[in-house]
Amino acid sequence: MSRPYPEIKPYRPPRWLAPLSLVVLLSLFIGTVFASQLSSMTGSPLGSDSEASGKTPMMASISGEQMALGTAGTVASYSHTLTNNGGQTETFHMVVTSRQGWTVAVNPTQMTLAPGASTTLTIDLTIPANAAPGTQALTILTVTNTQPAPPIVLGVKDTILVDAGTALKIPPAQWGEMVDGERVYSLTEMISTTEFLPGLDTPTYGYNGSFLGPTLVMTAGEVISISVTNNLTETSTTHWHGIHLPGQMDGGPHQDILPGTTWHPTFTMINQASTLWYHPHPHHGAEHEPSAVSVAATGYQVYYGLAGMIFVRDSHADSLNLPQTYGVDEFPIVVQDRNFNEDGSFREYPAQQDRDLHKGDHFLINGTLAGNLDVPAQMVRLHILNGSNARFYNFGFSDNRSFTQIASDNALLNSGVSRTRVVLGPGERAEIVVDLSGDEGETLSFANYAAEFGNGDLGPTSLDDYDQSNYILFTLHVTAPTANPVTTLPTVLNNIERIDPSTAVLTRTLTLNIPPSINGMTFQMDTINITTTLGMKEVWRIVNLSEEPHPIHIHDSPFQIISRNGEAPPDYELGWKDTVIVHSLETVLVLKDFSGFYDPDGPFMYHCHILDHEDKGMMGQYIIDTQPAYLPLLQRP
Ligand code: C2O
Ligand code: CU
Ligand code: CU
Repeated sequence: MSRPYPEIKPYRPPRWLAPLSLVVLLSLFIGTVFASQLSSMTGSPLGSDSEASGKTPMMASISGEQMALGTAGTVASYSHTLTNNGGQTETFHMVVTSRQGWTVAVNPTQMTLAPGASTTLTIDLTIPANAAPGTQALTILTVTNTQPAPPIVLGVKDTILVDAGTALKIPPAQWGEMVDGERVYSLTEMISTTEFLPGLDTPTYGYNGSFLGPTLVMTAGEVISISVTNNLTETSTTHWHGIHLPGQMDGGPHQDILPGTTWHPTFTMINQASTLWYHPHPHHGAEHEPSAVSVAATGYQVYYGLAGMIFVRDSHADSLNLPQTYGVDEFPIVVQDRNFNEDGSFREYPAQQDRDLHKGDHFLINGTLAGNLDVPAQMVRLHILNGSNARFYNFGFSDNRSFTQIASDNALLNSGVSRTRVVLGPGERAEIVVDLSGDEGETLSFANYAAEFGNGDLGPTSLDDYDQSNYILFTLHVTAPTANPVTTLPTVLNNIERIDPSTAVLTRTLTLNIPPSINGMTFQMDTINITTTLGMKEVWRIVNLSEEPHPIHIHDSPFQIISRNGEAPPDYELGWKDTVIVHSLETVLVLKDFSGFYDPDGPFMYHCHILDHEDKGMMGQYIIDTQPAYLPLLQRP
């Protein structure tokens, strides 16, 4: 989908919008009449900075983004308050458009406001009777003042999720079977179709089913044996994202599973209790040619549905009495966005341009559009995975209630962190516990508060409407509590020791850039970029020189975040991680302990988990050797 609307929020100009591009966007938006006036401005003409520039600042405001559920065949109404904060009377003109091209009106369309005065603007969106459930209807309200007064342009994007009345799917749990002392799991990658939109069959891939895969429940200390059969017509692999294991068991690009064959990795589960996941990780073809990567590419295979969760249990976590009854008070929440063609098929993959990174306007939670989840009126634990190819989310509940984040990617935090929002980049996970006791009979929503992303959180390159609005992902219906509900959380959850960065033997720098690359290079199957030493700790200094954030994932053992731009990370980032968001122009230091496995034939990947970036080569590989490869580096002048 092209971008039919100007992508600006003038009342909160992101810092990456340089004055020049603002002028260009504004000229496109309000026409050339005012372009000369705008181009005569200096600084940021519409932000608060403009006061310093001596030019007239924007002196009006509009209330924030609205989101709601809607029903096909009805009119959804919502409103905003417009206030004239300036010192002179202004006449405002209102225009509203529907991203879906539906009938929509705003009232009034013109209003003169004295200084300090406010008015209510009401939007009526007609939801067509045949609107598909799961449509994330989005309207764009724009307010401008009468020219040639200094230009005021306000924009706000509201959403209505067309309700489906369907239950949120819960992937089946696979507990594995004990065979000769090994816990055996079985996965089959298959081609299928899935009905997401009423009456339409979407060609999809899945593990043991038509879309996504079972949640593998594993226990620390057990020997795990998995058979992965490829029943696709293309080469695939299956990677255990976040598991600490030997390289040849990792399922990266070197562990091809040819069509019609089965791969049998086996390893001992040595991770702590955590939320991990699995997905294909192939890398083939003449790199960077979209036509070639469209087959055996990670982004493509994940987009079509190959992904599943892994819940790791351990005796320590078991002793904490956390909500842990799968599908009752504990739920996997896989969040993905997709675009659909008219015939129900997913829109062609991959995108050709970085700015068309695969972001969708439909939101699948465990493969369900606009689902309802019945949850008991007690403490409920959500294992949230951002399984999207490129989109970042700012999750929260519609009543802004606080919840407790209990785990980051690879382990429980030392103690729970009370939050109202949690941001996850592609590949990241968080476990949260929300207290619903006393809410029996209530309905609330779990939403993406993307409109709250601040300056520099997201880059300009691929920003779309759904990065600038708030919207419901699924609803929760609170039902009666279970017999023995969990009602409290322990204050101490884990005992992770912070590793002293001075124990690292060296610091390596990874610079991230666009076109997708790391240290100026793109991934080559036969190039080992880094050789590390078994048992050593290293600091990886990740420097993002590009305009957009990259979620950087490093395979094998987890790492600790040392700092962000020299500052200590927030408390919810003090635990074990395997994927870290590195914002534009940010430098993130992580400490990685290369303990574990010497596997000269099993390189590990590190890469951006925006899968289009990964497929375009924003990936490298490291190998763990027993020889201290750092010595020659240290001896350099
Ligand atoms: Cu989630 Cu290298 O992968
Ligand atoms: Cu991984
Ligand atoms: Cu990236």
